[in-house]
Amino acid sequence: MPPKSRRKKTSKAALTHRAAAIGRGASRAADRPIGVFDSGIGGLTVLRALVNAMPVEEFIYLGDTARLPYGTKSNEVITRYSRENSEFLLAKGIKLLVVACNTSSAVALENIAGATMVPVVGVIEPGARAAVRASRSGKIGVIGTEATIASGAYTRTIQRLRPKAEIYTRACPLLVPLAEEGWVDNDIAERTVAYYLESLKQSGIDTLLLGCTHYPLLAGVFKRVLGPSVKVVDSASATADAVREHLTALNLARGCGGAGRQSFFVTESPDRFIRVGRGFFGPGVESAVRIER
Ligand code: DGL
Repeated sequence: MPPKSRRKKTSKAALTHRAAAIGRGASRAADRPIGVFDSGIGGLTVLRALVNAMPVEEFIYLGDTARLPYGTKSNEVITRYSRENSEFLLAKGIKLLVVACNTSSAVALENIAGATMVPVVGVIEPGARAAVRASRSGKIGVIGTEATIASGAYTRTIQRLRPKAEIYTRACPLLVPLAEEGWVDNDIAERTVAYYLESLKQSGIDTLLLGCTHYPLLAGVFKRVLGPSVKVVDSASATADAVREHLTALNLARGCGGAGRQSFFVTESPDRFIRVGRGFFGPGVESAVRIER
């Protein structure tokens, strides 16, 4: 879809219309949970940022662990899986949907938003905005999965926000398994990152946008490899800020109360999700419910 129609669909007016369509009044709607989905574990970095930014909100997280990775799949399959994830969360009565997966956001956001009655927030626009804000020279590097980079979604969005930006992209597929293995600060991680980032470094970027849920875990390595003159920006915290702004603007923010809960659903055995998920989210991932796919 061209950027013009994306702007139209996610405008404040469109979101207000969708929120009104919830049809049960803002106060009841505000008490509903926020739905978050990812292809698997990585979206927990986005959930972490969401919980930090909005501790009183309730969250329902779905990780499609049976079918990850999405980053190597075709657009048609990514879209189908993403729609199924959205439908599962919508059936839980969520007030807003966060597409935490960069690959789903890059490929399927329009499709999901077009079929959904609640506001939908993806990670591309907030991440692109954060990178544009951070960059002085306009030379911006973007890394992500193969499908995210091939979609050109980050490039189009950054160019729309800053037409003179020079954007250098690189798919880094090996970083996902490294992050899941917990190899985020050793020699292998550093050499792999150095290999992937060589051409971006040569291009003289002053900002690197981490366009994948897993990459924030490797932030220390990115900073070491690129040096202090390059800012490292991730989509997670920018997305949390965008969600908070949407909720406030739509009068959907949960009022004061105790700390909100997080519930976790997965499509594979929960064991690995819980074990690895702790590295991404912290000790809050204590149990997860497996759903059939
Ligand atoms: N969650 C995906 C993303 O942010 C990375 C893992 C995958 O390829 O499924 O793009």
